[in-house]
Amino acid sequence: MKPILVSGIKPEGPLHIGNFLGSLKNFVELQNSGKYDCYFFIADLHSLTEEFDLKQKHNQILELVAEYLAAGLDPKKSVIFLQSAVPAHSELMWLLTTITPEGELRRMTQYKDKVVIKKLDANTGLLMYPILMAADILLYDAKFVPVGDDQVQHIELTRTLARKFNSKFGKTFIEPQPILTEVSRVMSLDEPKKKMSKSRPAGCLFIDDSPEVIRKKIMSATTDSGKDVKYAPEEKPGISNLILLYGGISGDTTREIERRFAGASYAEFKKSLAEEVVKTLAPFQKKKKKFMKKDGSTSRTIAAGNKKANAAASKKLLEVKKKIGLFS
Ligand code: ADP
Ligand code: TRP
Repeated sequence: MKPILVSGIKPEGPLHIGNFLGSLKNFVELQNSGKYDCYFFIADLHSLTEEFDLKQKHNQILELVAEYLAAGLDPKKSVIFLQSAVPAHSELMWLLTTITPEGELRRMTQYKDKVVIKKLDANTGLLMYPILMAADILLYDAKFVPVGDDQVQHIELTRTLARKFNSKFGKTFIEPQPILTEVSRVMSLDEPKKKMSKSRPAGCLFIDDSPEVIRKKIMSATTDSGKDVKYAPEEKPGISNLILLYGGISGDTTREIERRFAGASYAEFKKSLAEEVVKTLAPFQKKKKKFMKKDGSTSRTIAAGNKKANAAASKKLLEVKKKIGLFS
């Protein structure tokens, strides 16, 4: 049997190039490596912890499914499903809350960032967020979890909970490991010391952006003093970020890119980067439109994935309940 790999993304509007390179492109490569049994889901329950427009949520879910399929996730190779369609996620989460120290949750960087620093009026879901994530992973006996580096702390907590459960109730869960991409942190185009994030749309390149918008955003991206196209994240965060983007899109190494653009101006480099991005995103955008068509085929794909995920998850949940001594 192959090792199991699980990951998900929250449906919260079109993805940006950071999500694309840091997550989705990696999902597709891992799937196509043939080395894993893959489960990829839409983390719709997690997305409810953020403010949302009631008119948009349903479409955001369909849109992310279309993005998964357009990027190359293939229901013949991977189980693609909705988190909310598999009740075992929420049920296992409850069981795990009873072994999670509250203090650990309050120490999570994402929680502190969202609630303590930004002084948001926190809903309890934001605090419990990592426990649901642990349930998402442990339910499928996943050994590997591809994520961006901001999620590594949540995987650590998942490992802690797996260990704790195993020592209390007997060996039940596998301790998962994160898989990071080389491009695990794309920075903002306008402020290259900050992570590209949809919470700051001004610095984002969205994978839905038209060729004109892509060119405009890249040409006006913040660069640094000096004029060499050289990777030096400390001294030259702007140009280094664009080099990483170039590498993430084209598959070329930093060295190769530096060599190709030795003696070129920032503007020449940016022009070439913009064309690489346009060339990669155009076919993706076309496919995404096709999968968004309301002819029912995308919904059927999801229904089939939900069924497979439910079968695996309910079996595991039963094992967990038995270990605790609950009736099933
Ligand atoms: P955002 O920060 O824009 O709200 P999410 O938190 O929804 O993005 O992240 C979705 C996925 O994309 C996660 O796996 C995350 O690690 C990855 N990701 C998000 N931003 C970046 C980035 N700037 N660079 C690389 N990966 C990213
Ligand atoms: N928290 C992840 C993010 O913000 C999304 C997510 C939810 C996830 N459950 C997961 C990722 C389980 C990997 C495994 O990107």
